[in-house]
Amino acid sequence: MYQRIAIVTGASSGIGKAFIELLARDNGEFFKTPFDEIWAIARREDALNELASSVDGVKIIPVSADLSSDAGIKKVESKLEEEKPKVGLLINSAGMGMKGLMADKSDKALSDTIAINCTALSLMIKIAAPFMKQEGRERSKIINIGSSAGFLPQPGFACYAASKSYVISFSRAMSCELKPMGIDVMVVCPGPVATDFQRRATEGKETNFTDWRKNFVVDPVKLAKATLKASVRGRRMISYPFSQKLLHFASKAVPISWILAFEGKAVKE
Ligand SMILES: NC(=O)c1ccc[n+]([C@@H]2O[C@H](COP(=O)([O-])OP(=O)(O)OC[C@H]3O[C@@H](n4cnc5c(N)ncnc54)[C@H](OP(=O)(O)O)[C@@H]3O)[C@@H](O)[C@H]2O)c1
Repeated sequence: MYQRIAIVTGASSGIGKAFIELLARDNGEFFKTPFDEIWAIARREDALNELASSVDGVKIIPVSADLSSDAGIKKVESKLEEEKPKVGLLINSAGMGMKGLMADKSDKALSDTIAINCTALSLMIKIAAPFMKQEGRERSKIINIGSSAGFLPQPGFACYAASKSYVISFSRAMSCELKPMGIDVMVVCPGPVATDFQRRATEGKETNFTDWRKNFVVDPVKLAKATLKASVRGRRMISYPFSQKLLHFASKAVPISWILAFEGKAVKE
């Protein structure tokens, strides 16, 4: 008999970690049957081990892998082929962003951002999907962590915003391609979330959001809860919280030339 598992990338901190802690406490609110194991993937082995020993309710299997490398993806693929589990849930939360003008960023910062936010997310879906095919009545779920940054081009955060546009577009296409296999794909587009993301994006200069966005910061557990609820209901895309829904609407209603003129001014100031 196979193990029925969930896989969570970006599990060592922030949103990915919040998903795991929530899934471990799930008493049937999101999934009728608890998972036998959760594979927690990220690079920081210590943080994954700490998570595995602090979480009760489900067995956490730490998988230390750099998903921006071929070797990291191969490590996960080989583990899947060896153990042949049934993957009931895949959450792609691993991601990064680097603030600043493109010209000031290193080649590596740009290519790493695309490698983890776009390539790794796509490859994780490709390698996990064969293990997610529907058996019986239960459909499998893929949840991709996009961002409201993906609604619009963002001078000063260009590569990150473009990478999240990719996540939104790719997720929507996958929700059609994978539907006949019994796999539901959803993308969640949060605004600012209280995690380590901003500190890493500013290379330690800002530990929290300091501009106007500080008023919209949400808790990662609340985001994870709303996301799992929406996924269970079969939603393909959500923006969270409500302020980001308004932003999504505005991004479609306001001419892009006006938005770029406004954003361009903000970058020069
Ligand atoms: N926080 C926000 O304001 C916000 C808003 C919208 C969307 N998001 C998105 O939410 C997702 C999670 O971010 P977060 O806010 O939770 O930030 P975070 O705390 O910095 O978490 C990022 C996670 O990604 C993992 N990761 C990064 N590069 C990796 C690599 N090469 N290989 C494997 N794992 C890697 C990190 O683990 P290791 O360093 O241990 O590898 C960490 O677990 C990201 O996709 C981000 O773009 C965040």
